[in-house]
Amino acid sequence: MTRITVRPVAGHIGADIGNVDLAQPLTDSDLRTVKEALHRHKVVFFRGQALDHAAQIAFARQFGELTYAHPHDDAPPEDHPEIFTIDPARFEQRYGADFVAEYRKRQYSYFDGWHTDVTAAVNPPAGSILRAERVPEFGGDTTWTNLVAAYQGLSAPLRAFVDTLRAEHRYGGSRRVEGDSEYARRINDNLLVAVHPVVRVHPETGERALFVNPGFTSHIVDVHPSESKRLLELLYAEITRPEYTVRFRWEPGHVAFWDNRATAHLAPRDLAHLDVERRLHRVTLIGDIPVGPDGRPSELLSGRPFTADHRVVTNA
Ligand code: SIN
Repeated sequence: MTRITVRPVAGHIGADIGNVDLAQPLTDSDLRTVKEALHRHKVVFFRGQALDHAAQIAFARQFGELTYAHPHDDAPPEDHPEIFTIDPARFEQRYGADFVAEYRKRQYSYFDGWHTDVTAAVNPPAGSILRAERVPEFGGDTTWTNLVAAYQGLSAPLRAFVDTLRAEHRYGGSRRVEGDSEYARRINDNLLVAVHPVVRVHPETGERALFVNPGFTSHIVDVHPSESKRLLELLYAEITRPEYTVRFRWEPGHVAFWDNRATAHLAPRDLAHLDVERRLHRVTLIGDIPVGPDGRPSELLSGRPFTADHRVVTNA
């Protein structure tokens, strides 16, 4: 029998895991190996797997309970409420032809931009597992960054300062989604807002990570707006430094599994002008409530924790 292998692929983040078939239940020893690799390397890649929705869900459940597809999505594939499909064509069919172009202009979208998944929730997902079904011949890579390395790279005085800060995260960025489209109503009528520590202590490794991201963080609380803006600019410059990142080239069947408590990722920005198909499916593990270095947990300001339970208000 060939043993599972773990091969780091970049200096600070990312490892390829080989000799394992994710369509089969993992042995206890392989499960341990994958968990350890995830904690150490933050994102792990499994190439050339043959998973369908049910097999992806079964694989993910070995690591914890799963959330519903997405807090604002009520159209997961039939019989698979856990699957969130990332495909611009799906949104275009649902919300109209102009939607995708408008959506891309936003601070954050599922088609581009740095983010950590669903940090507007008081309990952002602990981990995410993304599987590629269709990918373009070129382009469409995803990049991840190590938020623990970014924290450790700060000088000691700056680390001590950011340890004391808290920041608001809201779905749709710093403002309401504009307009009166079905999509805008769906987001604005189901606001998801939380205040998290800027530095999060990982519940399993004890490591500290910079827990802000341009996708969801609206501002740092209790400081002047201009201070918040400049502090966030500084922190975003740190978390997106190339040395903390790894870039992954997708092929159909490839799977990426990341620790959402210690990473941010960049969905691709290089496809908007091309007429190509890109379709991936994501599941997310239900997360815990972040805690800062002072032991203070995050606070929910609007919405509900992100779990398997799903309710979206649609005021016509
Ligand atoms: C995601 O944000 O989970 C999707 C990333 C991607 O589309 O590359």
